[in-house]
Amino acid sequence: MDNTKPAGEDILRVEHVSNYYSDNGLGILRNRKRSQVLQDVSLTIGKDEFFGLVGESGCGKSTLGNAILGLIPYEGKITVAGLEHGRVSRKEFTRHIQAVFQDPLSAMNPRRTIGDTMKEPLMAHGIGTPKEQEAAVRAMLETVGLDASYADRYPRELSGGQRQRVCIGAALMLEPELIIADEAISALDVSVGSQILNLFRTIDVERDFSMLFISHNLNVVYYLCDRIAVMYKGSIVEMGTADAVYNDPMHPYTRLLLSAIPDYASEDDGDRALLERFRPPVEGACAFYHRCPHATDKCKKVPELRNKAYRGEEEHLVRCFYL
Ligand SMILES: Nc1ncnc2c1ncn2[C@@H]1O[C@H](COP(=O)(O)OP(=O)(O)OP(=O)(O)O)[C@@H](O)[C@H]1O
Ligand SMILES: [Mg+2]
Repeated sequence: MDNTKPAGEDILRVEHVSNYYSDNGLGILRNRKRSQVLQDVSLTIGKDEFFGLVGESGCGKSTLGNAILGLIPYEGKITVAGLEHGRVSRKEFTRHIQAVFQDPLSAMNPRRTIGDTMKEPLMAHGIGTPKEQEAAVRAMLETVGLDASYADRYPRELSGGQRQRVCIGAALMLEPELIIADEAISALDVSVGSQILNLFRTIDVERDFSMLFISHNLNVVYYLCDRIAVMYKGSIVEMGTADAVYNDPMHPYTRLLLSAIPDYASEDDGDRALLERFRPPVEGACAFYHRCPHATDKCKKVPELRNKAYRGEEEHLVRCFYL
């Protein structure tokens, strides 16, 4: 299948991206009170790299994913495989980036067979003859661990895990350089979820693609990804190799995420201190100021994301004045 890959090291470049919602939805241009969700987010994902984005509910993970997919407006610059939204057609863009979401059923038409759903991207882009498309679908079903005969089934005849396998297969049909997986295993049982994680790992060996894997679970992201960014209230507070961020977390928020018990009812003094400082966010201060046990007056300004790598890694960026 012909799919010309643009040259360049980084498959995804997110540069100084911010975005805002107004009281009644998306509002870059509206004259209403608007709240900022993404705060000057920058990150890159290299070729074949799996990149994990973690953070608690509401921190802006899906907003970033949607901005990268070109589904919502943003300020700043995003390029996928060297292409910028608005400069090329949506159709051209979809050859390079595809998404897998939490609920596979909502991504499928209940009246169409699995085969037809998976064939759709090929038909939309005029790739292959009907016979070739059929063969590509059957091969892809096997790639995602399903029997080729599933092509004739309907979504309701599949389990949740099998449906997610179909969505992953459909996302790979156009051989995109980047897949965005937004909470792709969160709705599944733990054992089914880990089978899907292992599927991503197997496909990674067989195919060339990069992935932005969005999850609230740092353990899952560590298992799957090469690099990790931790997001708190729309800004990246820590970013580096999975090993550095997981095994040597520096930012107090990353440490909190990693502590097995949430920030209440903990025996740990550090965590109790976090709870005691649980106050409303302070405008203009470090995003974690109101929860941080180490915060001082200095933290009433926003720290930059700086490289604090010291164990020989290339990067271990942390947003904290005291690290
Ligand atoms: N269309 C919208 N209109 C207004 N506010 C929105 C809209 N979409 C998201 N938000 C707000 O933006 C913030 C970030 O939401 P987002 O969905 O990106 O969080 P998330 O990190 O993906 O959370 P979760 O882990 O629960 O999926 C939240 O405060 C949310 O209420
Ligand atoms: Mg989300």
